[in-house]
Amino acid sequence: MKLWSFRIEFSCFSSNDNDPKEEVSLDPSDWNDTRYLGHQIMDDMMDYLRDLRQRPTWRPIPPKIKEIIATSVLPLHGQSPWEVYDEIRSIALPYVVGNIHPHYWGYVQGSGSPIGVLAEFITGTMNTMSWGGHQASIYLECQVLSWLKELMGFPTDETSSGVLVSGTSVATIIALAVARNKFHNRTMKIYCSNEVHSCLARAVDLLGITRTNLIVIPTNSQRQIDVEVLKTSIDLNSCGFIVGSAGTVGTGAIDDLEGLADLCASHPENLWFHVDGAIGAVARCSTRLRPLFTGLERADSLAFDLHKWLFVPYECGCILIRDGQLHRSTFAQPPASYLTLLDGGITPSHGEVYFSDYGLELSRNTKAIKVWMTLKTYGIERFGRIMEQNVDQALYFARLIEQNSNELELMAKTTLNIVCFRYIVHRSNSIDQQPMLNELNKRLLVLIQERGIAVVSPFVVGTNTFALRMCITNHRTKLSNMDTFLQQVIKLAHELVNTPEFIMLNKI
Ligand SMILES: Cc1ncc(COP(=O)(O)O)c(C=O)c1O
Repeated sequence: MKLWSFRIEFSCFSSNDNDPKEEVSLDPSDWNDTRYLGHQIMDDMMDYLRDLRQRPTWRPIPPKIKEIIATSVLPLHGQSPWEVYDEIRSIALPYVVGNIHPHYWGYVQGSGSPIGVLAEFITGTMNTMSWGGHQASIYLECQVLSWLKELMGFPTDETSSGVLVSGTSVATIIALAVARNKFHNRTMKIYCSNEVHSCLARAVDLLGITRTNLIVIPTNSQRQIDVEVLKTSIDLNSCGFIVGSAGTVGTGAIDDLEGLADLCASHPENLWFHVDGAIGAVARCSTRLRPLFTGLERADSLAFDLHKWLFVPYECGCILIRDGQLHRSTFAQPPASYLTLLDGGITPSHGEVYFSDYGLELSRNTKAIKVWMTLKTYGIERFGRIMEQNVDQALYFARLIEQNSNELELMAKTTLNIVCFRYIVHRSNSIDQQPMLNELNKRLLVLIQERGIAVVSPFVVGTNTFALRMCITNHRTKLSNMDTFLQQVIKLAHELVNTPEFIMLNKI
């Protein structure tokens, strides 16, 4: 609509006729130009995904590019979006850590999906603020949560609740806050294994639950929380928040979730069962892997990620709470006057869900569309197959390590999708060589990344044994990548042990 016609039709809104200022907006004067730019970007992004294998997994940012970024000044005046896109394409797109690449096996990172890219575009276009109210994004989120409850074996009715969040770190804060609300005024102790993810300690600190109430239980030989030790450590004079890991971040060990659920069920008034399912919970998509997580469905709270092994674009995690009333009462506030709910319109006081009553955020982006589109496009069965594929790849790589045990060592049992290993030069290397072996393996890891071969990440086993850690949450990885990677690791290690710094190890 042209400005002048706006003025004619709605003259009561027009500003002082003598005001010479032209009203401005962010919409383009030529929609077709923006449309063409959009088409160009779409073409480039699909090529970017299609051609991933032809690029290194990672490459460092050249100093020149860093300088361009650091010397860019606050843009006082706009410029052509084509130029802006061109710049971003050259300074940002090539320099990512590489988690969408088929050879990325570092930390626990998702590899996204093409439909996720398109969903983000739609979400950005709608740009709707999904705190609640009468809008489709809220209905979509409710339905997505119902699917996730079904997938996790939670009650799908309204007795249980949930909310999509940025990730398991935030989901953990929410779970702890709800449990604390249940045990109001009583001391709450948190029990977890020494393999638990650090987001738990951060949540404990943030909520003002002192660290002395964080009780760390040792793990057994399978790196699972030792349930027997836990039983004898629980102080039943206070309340307990028991954390089970459905895949630890270090080695992918899965705690005895059934044992923990039984323990908590024996003292339901005092004990809360929380599961950190950041990595493994979604593996319930696979009927083959699901039995590994038996007991998870009995959790009082379950935190997990969709941006890792379910390939929804970042950020997307979820918290499910068995007691939905308790969940809401922890976060809901009497609405501020500007948020007063009405009898109808976009914020009805009845019949609508307000997700801001279930978490930390009032302003929230819309995560449900990317979850909806990802799950519908690929289906649970396909995700299950990919997860099985990744677990099989990890088990295969672990076997390759064992077959080469003259120079490589497996550092932990592989139960899920994580392999920890190191290069040892010769099996006969003595304990005296540990510091040098640690140094060698650190260099090996960096070299693997810097040569663009792959990305694996570090893991320290025990007190001080440095290992390389491969975590496969990647639908683009192929089994044949395992053989090639092993050969490359050995080749690089040989290169390193022939340098003056490490030649000593070679001679022993
Ligand atoms: C087991 C585990 N728990 C929690 C987290 C934290 O999740 P997020 O990064 O989504 O906040 C991670 C992250 O890797 C994890 O592996």
